[in-house]
Amino acid sequence: MIGSGGREHALAWKASLSPDVSAVFVAPGNAGTALEKKTTNVPLQPSDFEGLLTFALHEQIDLVIVGPEDVLVGGIVDQFREAGISCFGPTQNAARLEGSKEFSKDFMTRHKIPTAWFRSFSDLEEARDYLKYQDFPLVIKADGLAAGKGVVICQDMSQAEQCIEEMLSGKAFDGAGEKIVIEEFLHGEEASFICMVNGQDFLVMASSQDHKAAYNGDTGPNTGGMGAYSPAPVIDSQMRETVIERVIKPTINGLVEDGISYTGFLYAGIMIQDGIPNVLEFNCRMGDPESQVIMMRLKSDLVTLCMAALEGQLGETEAEWFPQNALGVVMASRGYPGDYEKGHRIDGLETASDNNTKVFHAGTRLIGGKVTTSGGRVLCITALARNIVEAQKDAYRAASSIKWQGGWHRDDIGYRAVYRCQTSNEYSVD
Ligand code: AMP
Ligand code: GLY
Repeated sequence: MIGSGGREHALAWKASLSPDVSAVFVAPGNAGTALEKKTTNVPLQPSDFEGLLTFALHEQIDLVIVGPEDVLVGGIVDQFREAGISCFGPTQNAARLEGSKEFSKDFMTRHKIPTAWFRSFSDLEEARDYLKYQDFPLVIKADGLAAGKGVVICQDMSQAEQCIEEMLSGKAFDGAGEKIVIEEFLHGEEASFICMVNGQDFLVMASSQDHKAAYNGDTGPNTGGMGAYSPAPVIDSQMRETVIERVIKPTINGLVEDGISYTGFLYAGIMIQDGIPNVLEFNCRMGDPESQVIMMRLKSDLVTLCMAALEGQLGETEAEWFPQNALGVVMASRGYPGDYEKGHRIDGLETASDNNTKVFHAGTRLIGGKVTTSGGRVLCITALARNIVEAQKDAYRAASSIKWQGGWHRDDIGYRAVYRCQTSNEYSVD
């Protein structure tokens, strides 16, 4: 398992539950993966392709799963495949679906996949001129990878002008914004629609929804994700079919038509507006914190599913899911999503987990045997319960027992689904 976030902890944990798995190595992992049975951290960075390859060959690793997008976009899978190691993830060419917003928007236009209208720019004057004719709010996106922070929803002209200047100067996001996409603002409800893909075959994962905004009520700056839940009620069975027909199949067929062979997780971030699922973005990997809630609900063996995909048998494979709801609350360091504090000792972890509640780690390290904060998003406290209301209660109960200096979380993760559940007959029967 390559990576060190909450997503990687969730995937490594789930992989380690497979009876076919004797050991899971996580590079570089976190305190959570260090403490898990059957998993071992390896002090290698995801960007150290050569070191990882040497390690994998030496340990005769049977399956590599890659978590983060930057190394997928950097071509890590190509290198493992060349060395004959089974690696679940898209190649560099296929990962462009996430690596370049312009590529991905052009792909969607070419294959008639519903998405917001847009134009891309690399020239400041042209972009500025275009702004004059636009309504607000308006969405401005850096073309390249920016860790979920390259999207700005501009409320007025002065904010938009400032944003394009910063992005096109190449100063923001390490140059990821030297090209930008200016896009129509879509209203509606978001959901994460994630599949496992191999060529023309795909397997739909449980639906989920995350909260990208930092603060309660979905306000404040965008983050990597402050919490998530599964299933997403907005994806009912009819919407699931609509997304498959209008988004997933045209995407898979489009990739094949364009000669791109895609293997790995494919994540469509969608905005459902008037019954139409518009694609906001494609990610070439699992979501974080979506993985945490999806892995809690996955009954099937994750490793069997990945191997089936790599062996060309995904079309004949089905996944089983626990019927319960899962909800995960992210706990973050003071300052996140800006500059954040680290190095604080975390208390209360021992009593927070039980059979149905799991604390997935992200920015944590073991220092002198103590779990210590080392990142912006630190933990994701994830509960599985008979309905979303109970899952929310259980996750927050567990979160309330975990403390460190400056640690905080949103108080309303899952509010839309909770409201739906509380006002539905299903809940009153329960
Ligand atoms: P992206 O990285 O493109 O998914 O954008 C990050 C977040 O920005 C999305 O999850 C949405 O919450 C928001 N967003 C992106 N594009 C749009 C859009 N066209 N209209 C409204 N919100 C958007
Ligand atoms: N939770 C959003 C993402 O993984 O991109």
